[in-house]
Amino acid sequence: MKGSPILIIGKNGKTGRRVERQLQTLGYATRAVSRSTSRVFDWEDPATWRAALEGTKSGYVTFYPDLAIPSAEQTIRDFTAVARNVGLRHLVLLSGRGEQGAERAEDVLVNSGLDWNVVRASWFMQNFSEGFMVEGILGGELMLPVGDIAEPFIDVDDIADVVVASLTRPALRNRLFEVSGPRALTFAQCVSEISEAVGYPVKFTRIGIDEFTNVLRDEGVSGEALWLMRELFTVVLDGRNANPTTGVEEALGRPATDFGEFLRKVVATGAWQRSGLVQHG
Ligand SMILES: NC(=O)c1ccc[n+]([C@@H]2O[C@H](COP(=O)([O-])OP(=O)(O)OC[C@H]3O[C@@H](n4cnc5c(N)ncnc54)[C@H](OP(=O)(O)O)[C@@H]3O)[C@@H](O)[C@H]2O)c1
Repeated sequence: MKGSPILIIGKNGKTGRRVERQLQTLGYATRAVSRSTSRVFDWEDPATWRAALEGTKSGYVTFYPDLAIPSAEQTIRDFTAVARNVGLRHLVLLSGRGEQGAERAEDVLVNSGLDWNVVRASWFMQNFSEGFMVEGILGGELMLPVGDIAEPFIDVDDIADVVVASLTRPALRNRLFEVSGPRALTFAQCVSEISEAVGYPVKFTRIGIDEFTNVLRDEGVSGEALWLMRELFTVVLDGRNANPTTGVEEALGRPATDFGEFLRKVVATGAWQRSGLVQHG
């Protein structure tokens, strides 16, 4: 194992678990934490932070639920102060494209006195396979409050590659990588490509934002999480992020993964298989 453990905040998250796996494969010791690990890290309980960070020198930070929420800037300010205090020297922060709140949090890290990287990502392809949209896909209808806005979804395997490179290659320090996939697709186009790949019909239906948030409220979503969904669908998804970026290539010297390749990987895992149903293809 090489050196002190590399901190990963968000052990079970979509990117955190991939970053941990890759670092371990490369022979690095890791300290991956979240609310459910034996060494607890909870963004909502600053008393847990110091013990989770002590003994680490560099780390990957995923904030939850999203840096766009109004309290995130102050939380990241408090967090970087603790990190400096316990001797961390370098943090890599996952951020979101087109989010003003996230950019304020990024600035806090950039001006913290620590070495930094920001990986500012577009919407994850894996929201369709590991996130809040899986249920809709499996149920045959994805209902979202979004129209013909194109988004260059990114494969989180690419994000993990960029994060690991940022953590392990000093030549990449103190740089922002704005990362996206190579093709901007509307949600309807994504669903159509998914339907073709899985071999059962899935349709996309646009609903109103109030209808959407009412459904979420009925499911028990409240407070900042509800605010966040409205912000993401009405403000961030207005077309501002439609242009694909070159961040993956800048960090890794290879192109970003296409949605078609993502589909092939997910189909091979069986994540979109409907158990007990006969598939017609
Ligand atoms: N999804 C996207 O399309 C997208 C795009 C750009 C940027 N991002 C950014 O990616 C980050 C992660 O987003 P995600 O929604 O995809 O989630 P995720 O990475 O899948 O992370 C979910 C994990 O967060 C942990 N968590 C929840 N509340 C926590 C808390 N209070 N303290 C510590 N850990 C907590 C949970 O683990 P435990 O239950 O074990 O605590 C859960 O496994 C966010 O900062 C988001 O802004 C997401």
